Amino acid sequence: QFPRSVTIVEVGPRDGLQNEPGAIPTSTKVEFIDRLSATGLPVIESTSFVSPKWVPQLADCSEVMQQIQRRAGVRYTCLTPNLKGFERALAAGADEVAIFGAASEAFSQKNINCSIADSLERFKEVVAAAAAANIPVRGYVSCAVGCPYSGKVEPQQAAKVAKALYDMGCYEISISDTIGVGTPASIAAAIAATAELVPREKLAVHLHDTYGQALANILAALQMGISVIDASVAGLGGCPYAKGASGNVATEDVVYMLDGLGIKHGVDLAKLLEASEFICAALGRDNQSHVAKALQGK
Ligand code: HMG
Ligand code: MG
Repeated sequence: QFPRSVTIVEVGPRDGLQNEPGAIPTSTKVEFIDRLSATGLPVIESTSFVSPKWVPQLADCSEVMQQIQRRAGVRYTCLTPNLKGFERALAAGADEVAIFGAASEAFSQKNINCSIADSLERFKEVVAAAAAANIPVRGYVSCAVGCPYSGKVEPQQAAKVAKALYDMGCYEISISDTIGVGTPASIAAAIAATAELVPREKLAVHLHDTYGQALANILAALQMGISVIDASVAGLGGCPYAKGASGNVATEDVVYMLDGLGIKHGVDLAKLLEASEFICAALGRDNQSHVAKALQGK
């Protein structure tokens, strides 16, 4: 019943670095992405073309995209909240972009300064421009099970936003637990409700690990046939507009679990650990991956 193979979407350079307190040199970001692309990861979400006033950490998005060494077979994706972001991403050479909606009104306001309905109108412009440029668009549904401002989110609300993003042309929808409050029960409920409106094979999961539930939630998602998993090397990550959100599930931990389950993913764990050590050293951070800690004897 598990999928035979899984696509891991590495979000470390974007979700991971957007939340770092200190300034990170562009060259460090570029080397991080280049190291990740050598591991076999098929998709690397590399940066965001958002307002530099809102996320100063990623203000060098164009430079990053222009300086990375493109590896054949790797898709380099970027977040774009509006048409302006899309045009900048296109000019900088993004292979693919992602729009990010929310299942919670309060979070939509805090994160992108508009209502859910207004955000969907903006996203339609991005999707139309992307279609004209032949660029695939991914969609996120943030706060799919819980919101830092308004609490519990009903599965139908997440499903409704997912359907709107799918209907407008997103090729994949990532059901996101922004603040990591979900359990296998609530994540399964969000997936089940969404799968009634969007084909299951178009769904991904994006799970922050704030409450330590992310791997269990991924197992639940795999059991439901989800075969695209977002993850972040060393468990980096968080959203500056979601108070209390901590890192994503660590890519190393996902790889280890998939290996144990006999599910193919194409990622070389040894090389992943090198990329993970590189970025932890550059940021002066402890590695949040249990697998990395275990294998490095820490
Ligand atoms: P706003 O202030 O309402 O926008 O922000 P505006 O249109 O009024 O523009 C304000 C200024 O920003 C203007 O500049 C624009 O030109 C500029 P000024 O005239 O003041 O000099 N601007 C831009 N500049 C560069 N690129 C752009 C852009 N757009 C406007 N694309 C806006 C609205 C959406 C721009 C803002 O709220 C924003 O950038 N938000 C992004 C927040 C963000 O990045 N959050 C983290 C990512 S989401 C996340 O982490 C969740 C996820 O991981 C899934 C999960 O875990 O749930 C994906
Ligand atoms: Mg996230």
